[in-house]
Amino acid sequence: MKSNNLMSKNFWKELRRPILALAPLAGFTDSAYRQLCARYSAQVLYSEMVSATALFYDSKESLELIKFNRRLEKNYVVQLFGSNPAHFAKAVRIITQKVRPAGIDLNCGCPVKKVLQQGAGAALMKDIKRTREIIKVILANTDLPLSIKLRAGNGQMDASKFLKELSDLDIKAVMIHGRTLAGGFSGEVDLELIKNVRPYFKGVILANGGINTPADIKRVLKTTGADGVGIARGALGNPWIFSLKERPKNKSEIFKVILDNAKLVKKLKGEAGLIELRKHLVWYVNGLAGASHLRAELVKVKTLKDLKNILNNSLNNK
Ligand SMILES: Cc1cc2nc3c(=O)[nH]c(=O)nc-3n(C[C@H](O)[C@H](O)[C@H](O)COP(=O)(O)O)c2cc1C
Repeated sequence: MKSNNLMSKNFWKELRRPILALAPLAGFTDSAYRQLCARYSAQVLYSEMVSATALFYDSKESLELIKFNRRLEKNYVVQLFGSNPAHFAKAVRIITQKVRPAGIDLNCGCPVKKVLQQGAGAALMKDIKRTREIIKVILANTDLPLSIKLRAGNGQMDASKFLKELSDLDIKAVMIHGRTLAGGFSGEVDLELIKNVRPYFKGVILANGGINTPADIKRVLKTTGADGVGIARGALGNPWIFSLKERPKNKSEIFKVILDNAKLVKKLKGEAGLIELRKHLVWYVNGLAGASHLRAELVKVKTLKDLKNILNNSLNNK
């Protein structure tokens, strides 16, 4: 399928190195947070994962979830999860025609039970036949560049073997979460394994897992030789990381960015969006003096005015 020619270029090739990407985080990487991270130089912005099956059944909520601002979210990638090739065919056509992001990503790493039970997410790493079928269907239904996100391994299948099995397919980039499925979200990140993938994959490689500071970015790039990194939890409450800066120590600097984030949310979702912002607020105040008291207040925020009051009180009490 051909869409708008402008959109069909392989943007991955044009990015400066190292590539710093905001990794997909369900419930967090909404348009407001992506826009904020872009202001701090995040070069690639992943959506929250969206169900190919939900899009197949014309879910308006799912379509709403992946909308974006073309001007403020350059290099936006929509991530799909699922296991039914026919659902991917339609989902990908919808995304290509109605959303027109810079790229489409296939989730081969999600460890959530409900996702694994439907044969999706990290379960795809153990089902090469199905994964190949899904990738072929995606490629046949879009001209947007395809990337995949995978884990270090699932059982006997590791990232290198998996990518070798897919090497004839036109995958432009991969983000490798250096933990196995068994490692969940806290196991050891295997940087050597990411490094060893290079002979098996010709496109862009992004290393992911446990990157929380600019020093981590440098260390991971050096050890893996990857083209860039995907930053997930390390970017929560911490957009500064994309500018290779430490998270500020002083409250007023952090609070200013909290308000920037809140204003973006209000603009995009109205005042009701402030409730969704609560989970971000908790990350922003992590480690600050008086954080536990602040957290208790912030999880009750309903309006921008509430938020401003809480932050002002906190500054005045020091
Ligand atoms: C709350 C949460 C939501 C996530 N949602 C997604 C998702 O939608 N798609 C995906 O591929 N990975 C998802 N991940 C995995 C992250 O993208 C990333 O691979 C993982 O957290 C390791 O990176 P980190 O150590 O920088 O957090 C999620 C992780 C967390 C903690």
